[in-house]
Amino acid sequence: MATYLGIDLGTSSVKALVVEDDGRVRGVGSAEFPTDHPQPGWAEQNPDDWWSAAAAAVRQATGWLPGITIDAIGLTGQMHGTVMLTESGQYVAPAIIWSDTRSWRQAQAMTGEIGIAKLAEIAGSPVAAGFQAATLSWLRQERASLFWRAHKVLLPKDDLRRRLTGETATDPGDASGTLLLDVRWRTWSPDLMKVVDLDAGRLPTILPSNARAGTLTASAAEAFGLQAGIPVMTGTGDAAAGLLGAGIVDPATMLLSISTGAQVMVPAPHVKPDPEGRTHTFCSALEPGPGRPGWYTMGATLAAGMGLRWLRDEALALGGTDAYERMTGWASESIPGARGLLFLPYLAGERTPYMDARLRGAFLGLGGHHQRGDLVRAVIEGSTMAALDAFEVLRAQGAAPTKIVMAGGGAKSPLWRQIAADMFGLPVHALATADQAAMGAALLAASGASGADPVTLAQSWAAYGAVQEPNTAIAPRYAELFQIFRKARAATTETSHDLVAFNEPRWEAVKPSRPSRRG
Ligand code: XUL
Repeated sequence: MATYLGIDLGTSSVKALVVEDDGRVRGVGSAEFPTDHPQPGWAEQNPDDWWSAAAAAVRQATGWLPGITIDAIGLTGQMHGTVMLTESGQYVAPAIIWSDTRSWRQAQAMTGEIGIAKLAEIAGSPVAAGFQAATLSWLRQERASLFWRAHKVLLPKDDLRRRLTGETATDPGDASGTLLLDVRWRTWSPDLMKVVDLDAGRLPTILPSNARAGTLTASAAEAFGLQAGIPVMTGTGDAAAGLLGAGIVDPATMLLSISTGAQVMVPAPHVKPDPEGRTHTFCSALEPGPGRPGWYTMGATLAAGMGLRWLRDEALALGGTDAYERMTGWASESIPGARGLLFLPYLAGERTPYMDARLRGAFLGLGGHHQRGDLVRAVIEGSTMAALDAFEVLRAQGAAPTKIVMAGGGAKSPLWRQIAADMFGLPVHALATADQAAMGAALLAASGASGADPVTLAQSWAAYGAVQEPNTAIAPRYAELFQIFRKARAATTETSHDLVAFNEPRWEAVKPSRPSRRG
């Protein structure tokens, strides 16, 4: 029996899974790492922290199975971010990750320069702040010395693989998240690179997700407690890996992933981007062919679990490992619509469908009768309606899934799964594994090492729990609430922008005025 290792370099932790060739998970490990916010809206990470966390997670996952032999390693991770390296492999600066919004002006300028329809046609997607193309534009304009010192520019999980193997590479799925790829042909786009002033030599070679990108070096093997020489497959970004790990390989099933943000994703056999640039069409981990959708369409919202965490930590100040269970317990005593309380979940701006880094959240309709359970329920409902708002665009473009697989931390809550079923009007299947992206990475390792078809592996590996059907009595109530939600977003947008501008540092306004020397 062969054994594979999947490593997921997430946004706040690394997860590692040891998986048998029948999809059974034998070992699990995880280790957290910090994010720095040197200024409001900035988000930086130290790649050395990724390395230490990955080593700890892998040692933990393999520690369950002393003497285990790993046959291949697959990688996945947070998408879109920017790691810059000098020729000798030194980091030019900390990694600027996907949730960093400093580049929103550059994202707007790039959209204006290329045009939204042409950008969608080439890259399959709008450019958001924090996507590598926008971050590189910011660096070129604001930190030119760093930009020009970068000999190679990598995505986060590709940097981890470079340190594991000594080789640089990427895959079509993660490369599409840079907004520098021609998604149709799966090659770097000269038109897009020109806008950022980048030549292809500074970007990695693109390999299929299940191709061997290198082998584990002796020093990496020692750090991770593994054998040297293990094949390391290219892998892919966490969204595409999550689809495979959730067993979703055809357009009849949608993945609703609820973690910090939420994503709605449907496999696509062809590239049919949204000309208005509201959704993403990225390359999947599959090389396109019959029965092998080479792309997926995705709507991504930025705050879902983030809202609940904010409520737990900042508003309710709840401690204890059972805090979320207590909160969802209170919420289930509230009613659909949280007794007239609406939550706009835009704590970090929004991607799909508004592409607006300056949107902000709100509780609306708050009254003295509201209790903490209403607050929790409103946060869950508001976050789910933001995902529905994204899904409506996919649906208008032709996506017609007949069921939802729900994954991520939010899928653990039966209440959240029922709210999703009622709002989307589709049956919700709970994915049995919580680590679908790491599972997808292990699956790509298995496919690359054994030659097995990734589609067959995805279908046989994924396992599901209970199915929750939509409650037809509640659906019309939620349809009404969704219209109120959309109107509320539109009505508060300008106020959000004003408050963001109000909160920007304006030192001349707050500095005490100096007495004039001349008097
Ligand atoms: C996809 C996306 C997320 C990040 C964070 O566009 O932003 O999948 O990779 O996990």
